[in-house]
Amino acid sequence: MSMTVKEVQSEILRLKKEKDICILAHSYQAREILEIADFTGDSYALSKMAAKTESSTVLMCGVRFMAETVKILSPEKKVILSSPIAACPMAEQFEKDDILQLKEMFPDYAVVAYINTTAALKTVCDVCVTSSSAVEIVSKLDSKNILFIPDCNLGAFVAKQCPDKNIKLLQGGCPVHAAVSVRHVKEAKALHPRALLLVHPECVPEVAESADYIGSTSGIMNYAVKSDKTEFIIGTENSIVEHLQYMCPEKRFYPLSKSLLCENMKATTLVDVLNCCQGCGGEEIILSEDTIQKARRCIDKMIELGG
Ligand code: 13P
Ligand code: SF4
Repeated sequence: MSMTVKEVQSEILRLKKEKDICILAHSYQAREILEIADFTGDSYALSKMAAKTESSTVLMCGVRFMAETVKILSPEKKVILSSPIAACPMAEQFEKDDILQLKEMFPDYAVVAYINTTAALKTVCDVCVTSSSAVEIVSKLDSKNILFIPDCNLGAFVAKQCPDKNIKLLQGGCPVHAAVSVRHVKEAKALHPRALLLVHPECVPEVAESADYIGSTSGIMNYAVKSDKTEFIIGTENSIVEHLQYMCPEKRFYPLSKSLLCENMKATTLVDVLNCCQGCGGEEIILSEDTIQKARRCIDKMIELGG
């Protein structure tokens, strides 16, 4: 017998209550998933929620590094990634050994890891940051010399905001955001000349420099909601265009590029969430005690410095 979206959502809500499951959903998830989540937000907000939730099971609707972060912060909980194939490609661009070699070459550099990294990589880093907390955290670090991994675009944005720091970058980054070019900016502005341009710092510096606002997914959403302007070009995953249109029906939102689609964030369907709640889907995150202990240091430091 077929089910409607509403019926699937009701069944998820019933099951998560019965089984004490907390559903965390990143803002890039589909609308019907955000509607049944206990908490939604950017990577930073979800990390903080992960540390606070009291449920015995956490279901992460997002990508693998986000579920790993929950497990690291709450090792006693059962943590499930909603779709086993949802993995941020940027998180896997460098191996732990690459970073260990760099640490040997640059012993007086603090290693700052974007949270979009594997748990294994986090074990050899000094502090984590997210797009919304990076500038604040880097500016508070004692070390002047910083090796920022893996996203060179977020790193360049941080370097610009923290001119007193000496920041070394690697050639990593988000393939989805980095594919947006100045040509897309020109085309979108020509189509929507009155719109403000809001972009994620994972975009290349030439794109970020032409923006009216640069911020995390939540930063972009808050800016658009609070602004007294009515038209916005959105330079991040296109789900945010849709979510904002629901949140502010009186305003207009346009994608900066139709290629701003993260297939990994879109891997999770509402039925995957139902299957996970029924105990027959997703992937339970298992990490060794050693990885949890070592990776936790840099996530705890992020929460301590990020406020
Ligand atoms: P946020 O920290 O803005 O949620 O970014 C996560 C992400 O994967 C952006 O591409
Ligand atoms: Fe990773 Fe980019 Fe997708 Fe974010 S949008 S999860 S950084 S690939």
